[in-house]
Amino acid sequence: MSVIDKAKKILSGVMHPEHGKSIEELGMADLQLRSENLLEVRITGKKFPDAFLKSIGRIAGQKLKEGLAPDGITTEVTIEDAPRPASRPAVPESLKHVKNIIAVASGKGGVGKSTISVNLAVGLAQTGAKVALVDADIYGPSMPIMLGVKDHKPGAKPFGDRTMIEPVERFGVKMLSVGFFVDPEKALIWRGPMASNALIQIISDGYWGEIDYMVIDLPPGTGDIHLTLVQTLPVTGAVMVSTPQDIAIADARKGIALFSQEKINVPIIGLVENMAWFSPPELPGNRYYIFGRGGCDKLAAETDTEVIGRIPIVESACNASDNGTPVVTDKNHPLSEPFRKMVERVRIKLDERNQNLGPTQVVEVTRQ
Ligand SMILES: Nc1ncnc2c1ncn2[C@@H]1O[C@H](COP(=O)(O)OP(=O)(O)O)[C@@H](O)[C@H]1O
Ligand SMILES: [Mg+2]
Repeated sequence: MSVIDKAKKILSGVMHPEHGKSIEELGMADLQLRSENLLEVRITGKKFPDAFLKSIGRIAGQKLKEGLAPDGITTEVTIEDAPRPASRPAVPESLKHVKNIIAVASGKGGVGKSTISVNLAVGLAQTGAKVALVDADIYGPSMPIMLGVKDHKPGAKPFGDRTMIEPVERFGVKMLSVGFFVDPEKALIWRGPMASNALIQIISDGYWGEIDYMVIDLPPGTGDIHLTLVQTLPVTGAVMVSTPQDIAIADARKGIALFSQEKINVPIIGLVENMAWFSPPELPGNRYYIFGRGGCDKLAAETDTEVIGRIPIVESACNASDNGTPVVTDKNHPLSEPFRKMVERVRIKLDERNQNLGPTQVVEVTRQ
């Protein structure tokens, strides 16, 4: 029997009191024969901290000495702590199988953030991807109406010893909305932390399963909820929505600045210019730039991002939202093509991002 095999046999008799298995079985010992008669043994703790590491090291040293000295082998045992776990909060268990989390944000309200979110989610599902949609706009949830499930009551789903919330499925998208749980009028008087807690509970209690893309429709602005979100979820990237209007651009710039902060560092997937122009149905070739022109391009150049979609104003977009059928579901709708192009850009940009950067870490943000 080789020296290494002999040493392994000896170590399989050294038990870890907490785990009830030998340190050999637990894979805690690394053995190296340094010369014909010197065996180096490095024992690493099973977890950090491992209260038994020292005594295990002592016992192992003793037994190896007794067992190998008759063969003229000297053993040198060193012990080493297991790596200290990262101090950042753990990703909620229910999101472990969610590959990409896309936060849809805007500086200003009413720019079409929810319209973009729902068409992005349904458009991604049309490509065959598994998609989730979270309506996180606690003060103005709109997904129940936009997906035609206004009166839906989400069911409870037992999962191990927990009860999860079952998302509602529409157009191949699994959706949960804060609107299912809170009355927006009541939410208005909530303090920031209450709103963020409700939101996080909904996301982490959702029974999502395997998901390729989770789209989150955020509230407008750059507040507490946005910070809490990046503290709790590993957001892959943010899509910023703006109209070409100066005031909307100024607010979108603040949004980009929030996600790009050194400590947050959520990449901006791109900028979607909504209400980019208006073409009257009777003169579809004419474009009227009623909110101005070029603002989004300027912002993209300034912040080193890309305009990944331009969506014109079409009157019937409002009806589609109100009656629960997102425009991407209707191939003949004039906005279906611009939305499909946007979906394609998002997919490409996310692939590029995932090839070039590691996963976004949940950050620790210190509040002042
Ligand atoms: N491209 C568009 N053309 C016409 N109406 C639009 C367009 N985008 C959004 N709207 C309408 O504008 C209103 C605000 O859009 P919404 O998506 O709810 O914005 P937000 O979520 O940013 O508040 C809605 O009535 C919506 O139907
Ligand atoms: Mg909205």
